[in-house]
Amino acid sequence: MSYAEKITDNIYWIGTNDTRTHLFEHVYPIPKGVSYNSYLIKDEKTALLDTADSSTADQFLTNLKYALEGRDLDYLIVNHMEPDHSSVIERVVSLYPQVKIIGNSKTFTMIKQFFSFDVDSRSIVVTEGKELDLGYHKLVFVMAPMIHWPEAMVTFDKTSNVLFSADAFGTFGAIEGHIFADEYDIDGEWIGEYRRYLTNIVGKYGKPVQMLLKKAANLNIKTICPLHGPIWRKDLGYIIDKYDKWSNYEPELNGVLVAYASIYGHTESAARLLARLLIQNGVKNISVCDICEHHASHLVAESFKYSHIALLSPTYNLGMFTPVANYMHDIQALNLCKRKWLLVENGTWSPTANKHIKAVLEKMADMTILGEYTITSTLKDEEIPKFKALAELLANDIK
Ligand code: FEO
Repeated sequence: MSYAEKITDNIYWIGTNDTRTHLFEHVYPIPKGVSYNSYLIKDEKTALLDTADSSTADQFLTNLKYALEGRDLDYLIVNHMEPDHSSVIERVVSLYPQVKIIGNSKTFTMIKQFFSFDVDSRSIVVTEGKELDLGYHKLVFVMAPMIHWPEAMVTFDKTSNVLFSADAFGTFGAIEGHIFADEYDIDGEWIGEYRRYLTNIVGKYGKPVQMLLKKAANLNIKTICPLHGPIWRKDLGYIIDKYDKWSNYEPELNGVLVAYASIYGHTESAARLLARLLIQNGVKNISVCDICEHHASHLVAESFKYSHIALLSPTYNLGMFTPVANYMHDIQALNLCKRKWLLVENGTWSPTANKHIKAVLEKMADMTILGEYTITSTLKDEEIPKFKALAELLANDIK
């Protein structure tokens, strides 16, 4: 079957949902799937904004043909060249050979890297602020490099005040029947996936996101059409505020992520005791995560969410336990900063985990270590007062 939904003023969502792919980018679990959004503007000229992933190509092309209602396709605007949005470009060109492709110079370099068809004869190169007149709709192109590839740009429809925002303001999760964010419980059920998507996919590029937010502030945006997830037509301030915090590496909550790894359960027991002591000391926002059980993308998202991180980990091969090393690698690669830490290491002999964790934290910006502790195999009852003092130290800093 074919599907297209009118968004506003002759703008149609013709995207697809993918619930069969289990790993986005073959690394991030997507238990609720993902949508590849694509949009068609039917004006005096027709313009398609981005395509879809090859896994849903047939559905996408069916939707496109249905929405066009027999008309030809005049323009294909390529806001983003990552294959989850671009892999159907060559099939679109072969079905609509008159189509002109619009992108910036980097877009066309990438198109030629991915495809072998004749690109030059149909390319229109645009730069910052360049406009395209479709008849009624007047489009303007705004560069958004590193959100999340260097060629990325967004397209603003000045006529309908619609921002086609590429990867920005997207999320994991297939669109479940409704298509607008205001039709979902975003703050309850969806915001975790927005956070996991943004922090893992674009977390490294906080400054470029901030630059795009500044540009967006000068546009009178009424609707945001991202490449993944629901469309925003209400409460735009909510998602813009979240993006502002995430890209500034500001925590959303004053609270503690208690992240632990435990080989035989002793470090886990200490982590659970610490969490309880934090609650007893009045800390309201706590998340307890087993580093070995949670996918790294969840740990990254939780680390962006909380102001304080208590990391409890065993020593392994005289260094960091591998899952802990991976966690530290990920948050360093994604430029996480401005967090306060409590480090608790465990070791039956030669405990060295904290030393290696501190070496990583020292390379990151604005990380503060509030306290350290060493457990030798198990936390003894007589040590509990010292542990209570650590919990108090964290709780007082949060207050
Ligand atoms: Fe959804 Fe960067 O692609």
